[in-house]
Amino acid sequence: MSDGLKLGVLISGRGSNLQALIDACASSDYPAEIALVISNVPDVQGLERAKTAGIPTATVNHKDYSDRQAFEDVLHQHLSEAGVTLVCLAGFMRVLSPQFVERWPDRIINVHPSLLPAFKGLYGMGVHNAVIESGARISGCTVHFVCAEVDDGPIIVQSAVPVLPSDTADTLSTRVLEVEHQSYPLAVRLLAEGAYTLDGRRVIFENSSSDATPLISPVRVA
Ligand code: GRF
Repeated sequence: MSDGLKLGVLISGRGSNLQALIDACASSDYPAEIALVISNVPDVQGLERAKTAGIPTATVNHKDYSDRQAFEDVLHQHLSEAGVTLVCLAGFMRVLSPQFVERWPDRIINVHPSLLPAFKGLYGMGVHNAVIESGARISGCTVHFVCAEVDDGPIIVQSAVPVLPSDTADTLSTRVLEVEHQSYPLAVRLLAEGAYTLDGRRVIFENSSSDATPLISPVRVA
């Protein structure tokens, strides 16, 4: 579709959230399309997923650039040339500079595998280990706007899952990932469809049904 959001998805690896977006965009009534997938790591699974779906890809390896600004300038150029209107970070393992974020004001979103603002600044299994060690009974994921501070932007969608006594970081991450795959496409849909305003840290959707983001919890908790 041509009037929806044009997504630029930034990845560094597996790309299962990218796959969730690819699958959502395959529906004719989904209000977004993926214009470009960029990885900062060569030959990752996410790039294969994009190629299989016929989506243009680029590899912009941070190691090829003398500094972060040179790397980000190339990212910016690719995204601009592809006509991207929303940048989706999906397991992208580089912190973007405040200067880059300013070039895409309220136009970059990320998925984080905890219920922010809890457990921010951690990544990978470190998040889930910290949740288990904290004794928290509930975890989940957060899709949020990206601002200059890491894991700190206004929250668009959150989904909760139980933390079970038997959980390891692996089992908890699998349960959280399941709701990430529902939450990320939902957040993109809400941004594409719903008129919304940012009030400080709060995202206010004009359509109140969009405001009531569902608390998704998998049925299978055993
Ligand atoms: C996800 O858990 C996401 O929350 C985090 O990085 C992981 C990426 O997984 N930011 P994938 O590459 O989308 O499979």
